[in-house]
Amino acid sequence: MVASANTRLRLEAAHLTALFGQHRAVRDVSLLFPAHIVTAIIGPSGCGKSTLLRCLNRMHELTPGASVQGDVLLDNVNIYADDVSPVELRRRIGMVFQRPTPFPTMSIYDNVAAGLRVNGRRRSSDVDDAVARALQQAALWDEVKDRLHTSALALSGARVSDYTAFMYLGSLIEVGKTNELFTKPKVEQTEAYITGRFG
Ligand SMILES: Nc1ncnc2c1ncn2[C@@H]1O[C@H](COP(=O)(O)OP(=O)(O)OP(=O)(O)O)[C@@H](O)[C@H]1O
Ligand SMILES: [Mg+2]
Repeated sequence: MVASANTRLRLEAAHLTALFGQHRAVRDVSLLFPAHIVTAIIGPSGCGKSTLLRCLNRMHELTPGASVQGDVLLDNVNIYADDVSPVELRRRIGMVFQRPTPFPTMSIYDNVAAGLRVNGRRRSSDVDDAVARALQQAALWDEVKDRLHTSALALSGARVSDYTAFMYLGSLIEVGKTNELFTKPKVEQTEAYITGRFG
């Protein structure tokens, strides 16, 4: 998840359960995403990672039959409150999908600038600065700075997380600093997963 620049936003899932019909894909997950900290979510296919993320900007509810229980707090404001506009919220809590989906006919630069332009930022020096900053924050700047105006289809993402959360069968099993979780996991299921005994 990417919070807007120059803010101290923090996001928190509190007893979050996500359902597809009767199926509980995310089960009573409580997890804090502190500002300016990268949190990775890992776990076997189908454990609920994408579903959890989609609850964090109210995309889960767009699936017919899907529902959410519990809270998601953005700086202590419940994003599921009646007076929150989901469209406005999705502008503030962005999502980058598993498979990159750039606009195929646009350059790297134009893909990164597209969101700013939709939101009315047009002065080219402002946009230049914002594009550079966004690519630096995504650890992509060195890779792409010399080819900003070539096709975005060659773009790939890479980030190193500060914290890692391990999910299994819809539940949050363990969360901790990334290097500690991978070297000294506290829970047997985490250890089994990271050492490749299942997955
Ligand atoms: N649109 C849907 N309708 C019904 N069930 C769904 C839907 N999408 C996902 N599920 C179910 O919800 C559970 C969690 O799926 P989810 O896609 O969140 O897992 P994931 O951890 O992101 O997996 P992957 O690593 O494969 O991306 C799975 O049991 C999956 O079958
Ligand atoms: Mg997924």
